[in-house]
Amino acid sequence: MKKYQTFGARTKEESEWERQHKALARRAVAEGIVLLKNDGVLPLQPGKIALYGPGSRQTVKGGSGSGDVHERHSLTIEEGLRNAGFSFPTTLWMDRFSGKHNADVAAWKQKVEQAIKGYGPVRTMKMFDIIHENPMPYPACTPVLPDELTGETDTAIYVLSRQAGEGKDRRVEKGDYLLSDTETDSLRLLSRHYKKLILVLNCGGVIDLSVLDEVRIDAVLFIGQPGMEGGNALADILTGKVCPSGRLTDTWAMRYEEYPSANTFGHRNGDLENEAYSEESLVGYRWFYANGITPRFSFGYGLSYTSFAVKTDFVTDKEVVVTVTNTGKTSGREIVPLFISYHVRRDLAAFAKTKTLAPGECETLSIPYDLKQIASFDEDRGCFFLPDGEYALSTGGSFTLTDERVFPVRREKRTEKRSERVRKLLETLTDQDKIQLVTGGGYPIRAYNNVMGAAGRTCTTLLKKGIPNIVLADGPAGLNVVPEIAVRRSGLPGYPNGLPEDWRWGWLKKSEPLLKKLIGGGTRVYRYMTAWPSETVLAQSWDTALLEEVGQAVGKEMLEIGVSVWLAPGLNIHRNPLCGRNFEYYSEDPILSGKMAAAVTRGVQSQGGVGVSVKHFCCNNQEDNRAGVSANVSLKTLREIYLRAFEITIAEGKPWTVMSSYNRVNGRYVCNDMELLTGVLREEWGFGGLVMSDWNATDPASHVAAINAGNDLIMPGGAAVRKALLAGLKNGTLDRAALDRSAGRVLELIFKSETCKDF
Ligand code: BGC
Repeated sequence: MKKYQTFGARTKEESEWERQHKALARRAVAEGIVLLKNDGVLPLQPGKIALYGPGSRQTVKGGSGSGDVHERHSLTIEEGLRNAGFSFPTTLWMDRFSGKHNADVAAWKQKVEQAIKGYGPVRTMKMFDIIHENPMPYPACTPVLPDELTGETDTAIYVLSRQAGEGKDRRVEKGDYLLSDTETDSLRLLSRHYKKLILVLNCGGVIDLSVLDEVRIDAVLFIGQPGMEGGNALADILTGKVCPSGRLTDTWAMRYEEYPSANTFGHRNGDLENEAYSEESLVGYRWFYANGITPRFSFGYGLSYTSFAVKTDFVTDKEVVVTVTNTGKTSGREIVPLFISYHVRRDLAAFAKTKTLAPGECETLSIPYDLKQIASFDEDRGCFFLPDGEYALSTGGSFTLTDERVFPVRREKRTEKRSERVRKLLETLTDQDKIQLVTGGGYPIRAYNNVMGAAGRTCTTLLKKGIPNIVLADGPAGLNVVPEIAVRRSGLPGYPNGLPEDWRWGWLKKSEPLLKKLIGGGTRVYRYMTAWPSETVLAQSWDTALLEEVGQAVGKEMLEIGVSVWLAPGLNIHRNPLCGRNFEYYSEDPILSGKMAAAVTRGVQSQGGVGVSVKHFCCNNQEDNRAGVSANVSLKTLREIYLRAFEITIAEGKPWTVMSSYNRVNGRYVCNDMELLTGVLREEWGFGGLVMSDWNATDPASHVAAINAGNDLIMPGGAAVRKALLAGLKNGTLDRAALDRSAGRVLELIFKSETCKDF
């Protein structure tokens, strides 16, 4: 029996699949960029351009936290524009800002080193917790100074950047949700000096754009956090190589205060323990529509370089058929978001995107929809329904329901079939073994399947009993693993190039020369992964086929490096623009979110032997006190918005696993919630896979209750969790049948993984 196996490239050269995935990433960003304003300045001919703003050279590729990726190289906007043939008569602003950026990084490192002073080998994990809790804040902007202007071009681009991440929500403050005075003053100066001014928004999500009311800005593009190919993709759009077709997946309000949860969200009312979802189902555009508020940019908004006419051919209560004609002078694609309105309600029911249409060309699209997905939930009757009446379609046309349409909710306790191999294995396992199985494997340095830097693995101690481990890696912007490592003959890691960049802290950094001497050898393994655009950008393409392709590419990378479960996609709802992790989720709308996540899931899992973990189930819509807050939400709202996205993904994507969230829902920790994890997920939706906890989520909740509730795998695992489960078994609080069930599900997951196929 092999003691370990190692996947990954043995040479450092860029592989063919890397090149292909880079091209796909570039296409995905270009499809997801939204042109918000264009007063006739775009597209541009490549030539001399004045480039400013933090994101020009320090382009933010993604958010901070677990979803980071270690790609070979992320193109900056400066590089992308240069590749496309632009040149910069002055780089003085960028040079000065780079100097400040470097100084800020050095000061931050010093501050973190101070905080971890005194942490030795025994407290390494704690040391890394502190480092992760103190990510490098994106540097504050510096003003554009008169000597940084140039007379050699009449066109300037200003790239405004923001970065957010897990554990912390954004603030309605200057430099965050609001533009800083420096940014506004710089834009004012640039607008006075240059005939044409283009603003590029390199931030995770919505920001306040009242600057557009004060300063003449001729074009605005939202590129979000675009991953490693953002620079090239932006150039494709600016030059018209690609006609913009992206559309917003959120409502951009005139003022933050217009959002329904504006004053009560998270820190805003000082209550981080309880979050009342008082706006009920009127999240995002539903609220603006019902209250007659005109946003700055509405959900589904986006401009093009061409124009289209959409004609409805026929409508039924299941489908609309439309013909889209390109009526402009440039080839391009059109998105058709289909809203269905009834009285004051308006819901996205479906959407479609054309192929690239040449001027004058048309395409007929059939857009099917499932009325259950826009139905209301009746708490008293416990069913979904749509009242009788006339339903109008945003494309034109309508259909009538002559009677109320009822969609019952059914539950069924399913008996799970175990494979012969798993059944036999289970019979040989002791209680302790089963407890090992339902808790993650922690962070061992030697394991059968070991991918350095991956967030988790299943237990590594049962190899002799015929049970290998599998590796779980983040998500969702790519695969988050260490890109260069060596594996020694013993299976232990070697560090010929020194420690991975992320580990050069505290005692580890100090001992690096010694470590290099002691364990410097081994076979070199390279795992450079693609950094994809953030989920919001992907969703802005409104192109499920594209997301499926991205999923396929991720699945291929998983097979290349030996990861079995990708901790993605994330599909929490953008309930409020301040949520620190919105960039990792698709939209404020559950149908769009669910369809996107299902597409990515299908793509990954089509590769065979690899699966996803859709997260974070559910209502993980706030980052401040994410492991304590209770989302207090009515059953109606839960079903119409927050569960709906997951329900669609489970039905249309069939993910291998689901990750339960940190937060509580109506007072109960989700990872301990039998009703959600077993009642809804399994008995109602027929989910047959595995549920894992978010990392350490069961610490403030209960480890025992997690297993009882159907949270099969407690991550990342550890001795304390195992001790609590054993005690639970002894005192009768841990349901033995639940333990057996969960252990069985972990085994099924392991044995359907490609990395364990030959075991
Ligand atoms: C995040 C998850 C992530 C996990 C493992 C948690 O902090 O909430 O999204 O998958 O860490 O890195």
